[in-house]
This record gives sequence, structure tokens and C-alpha cells, in this order.
Amino acid sequence: MKIAVLTSGGDSAGMNAVVRSVVKTGILKGCEMFVVREGYEGLVRGNADGQRVDPVAIHNLEHIIHKPSLIQSDPDKNLLHNLRFGDGDLLKDGTSEWVGGRTLKGRYIVRVGWDDVRGWFAEGGTLIGTARSKAFRTPEGRTAAAHNLIKEGIHALVICGGDGSLTGADIFRSEWPQLVTDLHSQGKITDEQREAHTHLRIVGLVGSIDNDMCMTDMTIGAPTALHRICEAIDNINSTAYSHSRAFVVEVMGRDCGWLALNAGIAGGADFIFIPERPPKKLPWEDEMCAEIHRHREVGKRKTIVIVAEGAHDAELNPIRAEYVKEVLTERLGLDTRVTTLGHTQRGGRPCAGDRILPTLQGVEAVEALLESTPETPSYMIGVHENKIIRAPLMEAVALTKAVGQAVRDKDFDKAMELRGAEFGE
Ligand code: F6P
Repeated sequence: MKIAVLTSGGDSAGMNAVVRSVVKTGILKGCEMFVVREGYEGLVRGNADGQRVDPVAIHNLEHIIHKPSLIQSDPDKNLLHNLRFGDGDLLKDGTSEWVGGRTLKGRYIVRVGWDDVRGWFAEGGTLIGTARSKAFRTPEGRTAAAHNLIKEGIHALVICGGDGSLTGADIFRSEWPQLVTDLHSQGKITDEQREAHTHLRIVGLVGSIDNDMCMTDMTIGAPTALHRICEAIDNINSTAYSHSRAFVVEVMGRDCGWLALNAGIAGGADFIFIPERPPKKLPWEDEMCAEIHRHREVGKRKTIVIVAEGAHDAELNPIRAEYVKEVLTERLGLDTRVTTLGHTQRGGRPCAGDRILPTLQGVEAVEALLESTPETPSYMIGVHENKIIRAPLMEAVALTKAVGQAVRDKDFDKAMELRGAEFGE
């Protein structure tokens, strides 16, 4: 079977470990493995017809980049190639086209081999690129994507991304039979291709720093982001203590407070604002100031307030870090600074958890694909109570959306209840 893997939406630490695990597991199980560059956008763009990568030329280019002295002293480029890659190199027979991801202009669906993903567990971001594709949201875009997959003979897709990306995958799968019929009636695919592609197998892994997906205990990238935030708060703590200052730290998480809440616990924050559980009393300024005043009265020299980027009050008015600073300055007389951690939370090397979880989930993803039939639901690979699990993708997405809706309805108790109901607890 030919399997392609792509990363979609905001990058997160551990996405490369997913790709590595899926590629290696697929090869071990006898599959041909592909990566799709730039997320769904790459599926829509596909491969420029007739354009193939010349592996020898690329290897020589690598030498010019890495070993200019060698290229001067020995003009025999093939010799240089052998020096670096050895004779039995997988890439030489043209089975892999990746070669460090360079010179792939015009090619988005790229055959990869075992060595291409070596060491990827330790790399931050996503090496195969990601995008929030507008084209894939249109029927024309999805038709082009189906055509490109069929042209490459690919039957199965692994998608690593957030809930939006995984919903897109399920829509694509449900539309697949119609897309194939349309492509055939337009004469774009042959009878044989139609027969060979009646069913698209998909499986999703949740890559998101926000840890905002229901039916899994942890999303890929969340542990690393949390670790980054904790380190930043440790740094802030020492300077805050020195000057007896207050800091308002804004953290990511979109509509989810998981990062803010856990960073607050791990970093000893005085007050935390999260979207799912806004301060009960209005005006919240009184509640916050009373609490921080009490902490100062018992001798605390520093104050840390964490604001999730999606935080709001009980009436859904956004709570902004700059406004919190004004309140602390004016009402408590605290010398206050704001730190917005931004994308430092998302980038960088994955922690151990974001190498182990994606590796185990990648194995499960390939197994789920191999067992998939037109009747089985699309699965999301998750983790629950330390076990790798398969959850029906659309149920997980629906539950996640219901939590968001409960917050928008100001029914915060229901939001918490739904969160707890995800495993029937
Ligand atoms: O979903 C991941 C996330 O990092 C959110 O926490 C944040 O709101 C958003 O993506 C930022 O997106 P962008 O990188 O497009 O600014």
C-alpha cells in the first residue's frame, strides 16, 4: 500500500517524530511511504507533471553546500556522492526523492525512504512544512487533491494537525467516492484508477500545543509548550523577585486554558485567567486584587498573573494582559510588566514526552490504516490513561466543538461537565 503523511495547521513539537514513526513503521510493514509538503496545500498542488528529482544531482548539491573544499579538490561528483552516502544507499536507486527537502520545487507529494527521517524525533516544528490551506476548503481544491493522490497511486493518508485539520480529513474521506466518480467522468482518471481507488483510508493524530482536543488526554506538542512556558516563568520569577515587581504573562492556547492553568500551577502563579472557568464574581478586578493583596500581605515579593490568550470574563468580554497590568498598577501600586511569550512557546526541540507519544501513536496510525475498511470510521489516535487508543474522529471533533459552544453560551459548568464526559466518566 502507498501511504502519505502530512502535517497541517499550526506546527507543534513532535510533528517530525510523527512523520518519522509513520514512515518507518510503514516501510517495516511493506508499504511505500510518501510525505506531502505544506499540508493540504501540497495535496492540492500535487506534482508538476513529468518533473522528477535527479538524486545524483541533489547529492552533489549537498556536497557543494557542506564540503566546498572537497568539490574543489575532486571534481568527480559521483565519487563525492559515494563518500557521503556509500554505495548501498537507498536513495541512489531513486526510491526516495526527499534528500533533505531541497530542490523539490513543483513537487509536493514526495517518496521517502528510511534514512530520510533519521533523527527527526529531536527536531522542532515540522520539516515537511505546514499551511492553513484555503484551497483545500473549496470543492475544486479537494477534487484537485484527490486527483493528485490517485496520480501517485496513494490509498491512505495520515494527518497530524488540530481539530480543524482533522475535520477536513474526514470531509475529504466522505466525499471521496463522489470525487473519484467526477474525475472519471471528466476523463481525468482511467477505469483502472477508478477501480483501484474506491476507498480513501485516513487516520488523524492530534498535533497542537493547545491540548484542546476531547477524547485524548494529551495532544502532540502540548508538553513541550508547557515546558517552555515554565522555563519562561522561572526566568521571570527571579527578576520579578529582585525588583518586587508584578508580571502579567500572556500564553497561547486559543480557546483552551490547559497551558495557562498548568503553567500557573507549575510556576507558582498568583492568579490565572482561563476561558473555560472565568472569575465567578464581577467585577473580577476586585477578586484578583483582593487575592494578590493577600499574597503581598503575607510577604510575597513578586506577583505572577497568567492570562490565557482566549481568556474572558463571565460576560465573555476579553481579558487583556495590558488591562490587567493597568489594574495592578493603579489599584495595588505594583510596578508591573507584561510579557507575551508568543511563538517561543511553539518552536524548538521536543521534550521526551513529545518524542515518545508521537512514536507510539505513529505505529498505531499505520496499523489502523492497514485494518481500515470502507465501513470502519475514521480514527483519531489518542492516549488515555497511558494507553494509546483509537477514537472515532468525528465524535472527538463534535465533543470538542460542544465544549466551545458551552463556553459561548456562558454555560461554564456544562463546558467542564462535557470535558469530563469524554470517556464516559
Ligand atoms: O493552535 C496553536 C496556536 O499556537 C494557538 O495557541 C495560537 O492561538 C495560534 O496557534 C497562533 O497561530 P499563528 O501561528 O497563526 O499566529
